[in-house]
Amino acid sequence: TTGRVTFTLNGRRTSLVVDNRTSLLDLLRERLDLTGTKKGCDAGACGACTVHVDGRRVNACLTLAVRLEGAEVTTIEGLARHGGLHPLQRAFVEQDALQCGFCTPGQIMSGVACIHEGHARSPDEIREWMSGNICRCGCYVNIVRAIGQAAR
Ligand code: FES
Ligand code: FES
Repeated sequence: TTGRVTFTLNGRRTSLVVDNRTSLLDLLRERLDLTGTKKGCDAGACGACTVHVDGRRVNACLTLAVRLEGAEVTTIEGLARHGGLHPLQRAFVEQDALQCGFCTPGQIMSGVACIHEGHARSPDEIREWMSGNICRCGCYVNIVRAIGQAAR
């Protein structure tokens, strides 16, 4: 079955008919051309698909699109929309916190939530918050540094 869902996506009202089984991740990537949100495991285990729903981080692969009625969704594409990079994006560049970049959108969306929710007071706290975001290139040390820098 299908249903209509209306929500705010990166500041814009979005309304479309979706199959009840469609994940937010597939909706973003396959119907809305927002491919910054990555598909790693498609099973809630890697964090590559992290976005914000009503200001909280979620795994887009585990979120059904039909559940988003009235919600406010922000993806990596929406983070820099006020002109220029978000401070955490700048910190990732300055701290050299990426190699291939595949995990980076998810790392940044998770990192922004880490800072906003007050979990960036120490490297240990950041590491714990970020433990669901896997980086196959092993950039963890610099990712933690970048989040620490942006939190100051
Ligand atoms: Fe969603 Fe891996 S793709 S957690
Ligand atoms: Fe390559 Fe993280 S930068 S997976």
